[in-house]
Amino acid sequence: MTEEFEPSILAFCCNWCSYAGADLAGVSRIQYPTNIRIIRVMCSGRIEPAFIFEAFKDKVDGVLIMGCHIGDCHYLEGNVNAEVRVNNTIEALKHLGLDDRLRLEWVSASEGARFAEVVSNFTEDIRKIGPSPLNTDTT
Ligand code: FES
Repeated sequence: MTEEFEPSILAFCCNWCSYAGADLAGVSRIQYPTNIRIIRVMCSGRIEPAFIFEAFKDKVDGVLIMGCHIGDCHYLEGNVNAEVRVNNTIEALKHLGLDDRLRLEWVSASEGARFAEVVSNFTEDIRKIGPSPLNTDTT
């Protein structure tokens, strides 16, 4: 019998919307996979490509970035900048075969159910594609 692969997922959540959405999911007792570890940042625009590459180097199977919806960023255009950065990073990750392991989503503070849905969907997608090629243990 083979054990089902359980992905390790790192989520960056902006303080003002997505992290509050995660909190709402929690207090509302909405179930979502326990595969994610959340790092709270002040804005999705704070995420540098180096953070993402470092996460993959540290053997996560997927990186999920969540921020305020476009137009709602507390720093005006941080999420617009995040979108450009993430798209550029996805292009770079194509060279490593990791591009489908990075996702950007918008989740507001009132969207606890959406937070859970985004996490569930991403976890399931990563589970389907299997462990990161950087995580294959050859021993
Ligand atoms: Fe949430 Fe900028 S403050 S994305």
